[in-house]
Amino acid sequence: MIDHNTVQQILDTADIVDVVSDFVSLKKRGANWIGLCPFHNDRRPSFYVSRAKGLCKCFACGEGGSAVGFIMKHEQLSYPEALRYLARKYHIEIQEKELTDEEKQAQSEREAMLMLNEWACDYFEKQLHETQAGREIGLSYFNERGFNDATIKEFRLGYSSDSYDDFYKAAVAQGFNPKLLFDVGLCIPNERGGGYDRFRGRVMFPIMNIAGKVIAFGGRTLKKDKEVAKYVNSPESAIYLKRDVIYGLYQAKREISKQDKCFIVEGYADVISMHQAGFKNVIASSGTALTEGHIHNISRYTKNATEMFDGDAAGVKAAIRGVDMLLKEGLNIKVLPLPPEDDPDTFVRAHSFSEVEEYIEQNEEDFIHFKANVVLKDAKNDPIKRTAAITDVVKSIAIIPDEIARMVYAKECSNLFAIDEQTILRQIKHHRNKYIEQWHKERQQQQERERRLSQANNQSQDEVPPPSLNDLPEADVIPITPHQGTPSATTSQNGIEVQEREVIRLIVNYGMCYWGDTELEDGSLQPTTVLEYIQNELSMDQMDFTNPLYRHCFEIAKQYRDAYQEDFKRFNAGLDERIAQFMQEETARLQEEEPDGLDSTALINAQVRIDKAVNALAIAKANSERQEFNCNYLMKILCSIDDDNVRELAFELAADNLPQLSKIHTQFAVILEEKDRLMTLVPQMIFNWKNAIVTQRINETKSQIAVAPAEDQPRLMEYLQELYEMRHQLAQVIGDRVVNPN
Ligand code: CTP
Ligand code: MN
Repeated sequence: MIDHNTVQQILDTADIVDVVSDFVSLKKRGANWIGLCPFHNDRRPSFYVSRAKGLCKCFACGEGGSAVGFIMKHEQLSYPEALRYLARKYHIEIQEKELTDEEKQAQSEREAMLMLNEWACDYFEKQLHETQAGREIGLSYFNERGFNDATIKEFRLGYSSDSYDDFYKAAVAQGFNPKLLFDVGLCIPNERGGGYDRFRGRVMFPIMNIAGKVIAFGGRTLKKDKEVAKYVNSPESAIYLKRDVIYGLYQAKREISKQDKCFIVEGYADVISMHQAGFKNVIASSGTALTEGHIHNISRYTKNATEMFDGDAAGVKAAIRGVDMLLKEGLNIKVLPLPPEDDPDTFVRAHSFSEVEEYIEQNEEDFIHFKANVVLKDAKNDPIKRTAAITDVVKSIAIIPDEIARMVYAKECSNLFAIDEQTILRQIKHHRNKYIEQWHKERQQQQERERRLSQANNQSQDEVPPPSLNDLPEADVIPITPHQGTPSATTSQNGIEVQEREVIRLIVNYGMCYWGDTELEDGSLQPTTVLEYIQNELSMDQMDFTNPLYRHCFEIAKQYRDAYQEDFKRFNAGLDERIAQFMQEETARLQEEEPDGLDSTALINAQVRIDKAVNALAIAKANSERQEFNCNYLMKILCSIDDDNVRELAFELAADNLPQLSKIHTQFAVILEEKDRLMTLVPQMIFNWKNAIVTQRINETKSQIAVAPAEDQPRLMEYLQELYEMRHQLAQVIGDRVVNPN
């Protein structure tokens, strides 16, 4: 854990131009730097770097980010790894959170385990290449399977001899403590106080973490004997948590990110064969169901995953199981059924690269679509089974976090099942609410467990992690009248969604900027930030963002209010110094310009004039620097935060504002920049949002009126009148504000 102040210091120091320059050759153009984009095959320079904003972005492929974001993407590092990288570059000493003695011991224990595994991996490799048994049994087996030398090296395959304790003895002779050998699971203690080898007479597949460190082994037997387990794997240990580790990710991560796609297969052999055949974006679940930890690791590199499986009935069943988990994490899942007799390993070995490519092209299918067809085929014409099948598919759709994706699938299902789209949408909503409730409960239970644990450990609880996106319940907008029959018009969320995005964009880009003064109850005026203004407006009407990501982002922005006070004080202290120096220099420069030989009265007059001018300059300079600091404050933090979704959103919203896009020059004048129009702009956006909500309600109510029974008509008409009145009032308020913002 890196300490909070160190993180701030790293973010303050890292200069985006400097950071990017280590990888891209940049040229200055206007206020920006440009170069060839390192994320795609760029012919003309499309990669812009803005020092003032601390952002870079490719205007062809869209990639980019803050210094932290750029390093994470370019170097394929995790968030803390990227911070460490920047800290090293700028010689910032990392203040780790003070470790307890126990933690220190655990850390050195882990390091010892990694060292042992590294040594063991090397040992097994040598056994494979340099001993007779290794070559005759192990190497010839790999060669028979078609693995070439380069592949064997890359995956660090090895051999462990068929003996009771060869490895144990060698490791102890090397000085490793037997307890350590047992702890990582390479050896097992025996009754005589010694130990023996877990892996005997097996070819070895080292399992690496994302950084390429060996954390475990899988050993495959070469015997045909059905009594012997085909694979023996290292047990879990302090460095090997099965639920987090994916086989092959270290070798595949670059390619996954480059192609923005990964293939998920089952076995070690499948990964290796596909890799050798030229499909390097492959990883394996190692025969177990995928967990959230696995998926989280994958989604750092791509949101697009294709699951490959045998085309027989068992393979299809297995493919459908477990996928809901992938959907929940927001991955776009496709499936690729192989011919019944094949697995990925045999398939790629039997076909050429282009044949495999063509097969993928023709057989890859969207998961929901695939599942719908499978369950429908199973159900045949049995109406009960059919209902269950449809519910099954609807539940899968309800898990998908992206609202638009859910809507698209709903439409497709409505065609496929020949069921009214609104009915499906309602069902999705129903199941989604249930999930959310359940996730909420799980989270509360988890928090409760953590609280108890930390109480038991007597640790401080000052750091409450921000809620994760998926745990947030979905808010309902201002309550809508209860459903009466089927609403007919397609009530589009889109208008509202667009307005919400505008408001969250204002928060990201200008949240801490001064908006204007708010009149308090006692008549006094209170300087108000854009964020505060928006917060007030929303709470007045009990509104919140319906888009969960925006809502989450808003929550985080609000959490930074206290940190901002501190940071602003620090910034101001530095600014005072800079301004004092600036005044001195300016005064000296202006004094130089005065003619020589002035009499004393003229001198005094000149000095008064100079002081006035310098003061005015200094005030203007300080104001503009303060405005810039405030303007960029939230944007810089959110673009470098340890939350992939929020960071990407903030980057997208801030990139819309990069100078070369936002300054609109007309023939006659430079249009005022947004940041100079906040006083009218922000209320306008809030109005647009509220107006979109009311307008949607009006449309809904109108279509309800069209189908409602006569006795409901008066009530609905009355409600419609209220809505019109509300819209009218909104328009008046905004009219007043735009004319007289205060
Ligand atoms: N597996 C395991 N223990 C077993 C069997 C399988 O851990 N007893 C895991 C391994 O990670 C294996 C994966 O499940 O890679 C898939 O199993 P399988 O398809 O049987 O293995 P392959 O890797 O395809 O091995 P091979 O082709 O050599 O039979
Ligand atoms: Mn296999």
